[in-house]
Amino acid sequence: MRTPMIAGNWKMYKDVNEAVELVNSIKRAIFNVDNVEIIVVPPFTDLSEAGEMLIETNVKLGAQNCFWETEGAFTGEISAPMLKSVGCKYVVIGHSERRKYFGETNEMLNKKLHVVIKYGLIPIFCVGETLEEREHGKTWEVVETQIIEGMKNILDNDLNIIIAYEPVWAIGTGKTATPEQAQEVHKMIRDLLAKLYSVDFSERIQILYGGSVNPANIESLMKEPDIDGGLIGGASLKSESFVDMVKKTSWLYAKK
Ligand code: PGA
Repeated sequence: MRTPMIAGNWKMYKDVNEAVELVNSIKRAIFNVDNVEIIVVPPFTDLSEAGEMLIETNVKLGAQNCFWETEGAFTGEISAPMLKSVGCKYVVIGHSERRKYFGETNEMLNKKLHVVIKYGLIPIFCVGETLEEREHGKTWEVVETQIIEGMKNILDNDLNIIIAYEPVWAIGTGKTATPEQAQEVHKMIRDLLAKLYSVDFSERIQILYGGSVNPANIESLMKEPDIDGGLIGGASLKSESFVDMVKKTSWLYAKK
């Protein structure tokens, strides 16, 4: 059975003082949860402090982005080794907000995935269609292309990667995909990974759902066989709701 994962993507929220408060409160509330992988993904400026606070805890640290070069004259960018040096284990790659506002293409994301993997970080690779694409029946075409082009020449069957299916129309809108809609795409992603890699690989990979996940809908989503967790934005910014989602996931899996 795949271990469920709950990852809180803080986006551009929380200065370092607020981050310390949130990390402290999460840490205290879920220290005894041992059947869920728990990740917080703060902004860059909070990583160092959060990394210190999370040493030897059950909460792991992730970053929201990184550049494909390891060092150089790239003003404003952060590299994979830099993220490692502050305690990051995960990096979100290809979030739809990066694709939309910063013009990140599948080709650029492919370069990022290569470097992240090379430096031993685990990418949380985001894919998902816009509303217009869904309405034109293009959901699968878009997601399939994002995976094939994004993961080009990443051939290792032992690869550690997490895929997050995040329909753009569901992000920050309060409109969640129904469990059935999400499960349908998750299953197609898993079948594609079986074809591109192997059945073993596809069975091992965690596929997260993201897009308006909250304490009220997490259980129905997590009950679907191919949904292994959530990449959560808005509802991860308050300790109570993040902890609630972690605990609900933990109970659900304890029963399985
Ligand atoms: P949301 O964001 O939970 O606020 O919809 C999810 C995400 O963008 O990862």
